[in-house]
Amino acid sequence: MKIVVIQGPNLNMLGVREQGIYGSMKLEDIHGQMKAYAEKNKTEIEFFQSNLEGEIVDRIQECLGDADGIIINPAAYTHTSIAIRDAIAAVQIPTIEVHLSNIYQREEFRHKSLTAPVCAGQITGMGPFGYHLAMVGMTQILAEVAAIREHKAKAQQA
Ligand code: DQA
Repeated sequence: MKIVVIQGPNLNMLGVREQGIYGSMKLEDIHGQMKAYAEKNKTEIEFFQSNLEGEIVDRIQECLGDADGIIINPAAYTHTSIAIRDAIAAVQIPTIEVHLSNIYQREEFRHKSLTAPVCAGQITGMGPFGYHLAMVGMTQILAEVAAIREHKAKAQQA
């Protein structure tokens, strides 16, 4: 099983950027915790961050036939990017959207997520812990997908 974690614009500045909203934890530390959880669960994990919309679309497309799950924080593109939404819909890989801050408590332009409707779920406002919750959620989704696959394979044999 392989999970790809995709981080959108300005998330490379976590720990420096608007600490009152996003906290003091750096992106590499968040990724370190996710990696430890993945290792414990014998799951492969890869990380990608980009400030460019097209690069994020490319990375989502590369997941096809390679990744079993995607955890994505599209950052500001959440509210603007039809291209990222379409890429998530196109690959049909279970995807969980994460936001450090509670986007519904903030400015009105952040209340709408273009990407959430094509995701399995959204975690918002839990800070860095939200990424851990996404790992737990994704592990559960992947276990269910594997169980359904196994059930179908057995039914075909019968
Ligand atoms: C964010 C919320 C977005 O509105 C914002 O543009 C970000 C970060 C979050 O994690 O809370 O860059 O996705």
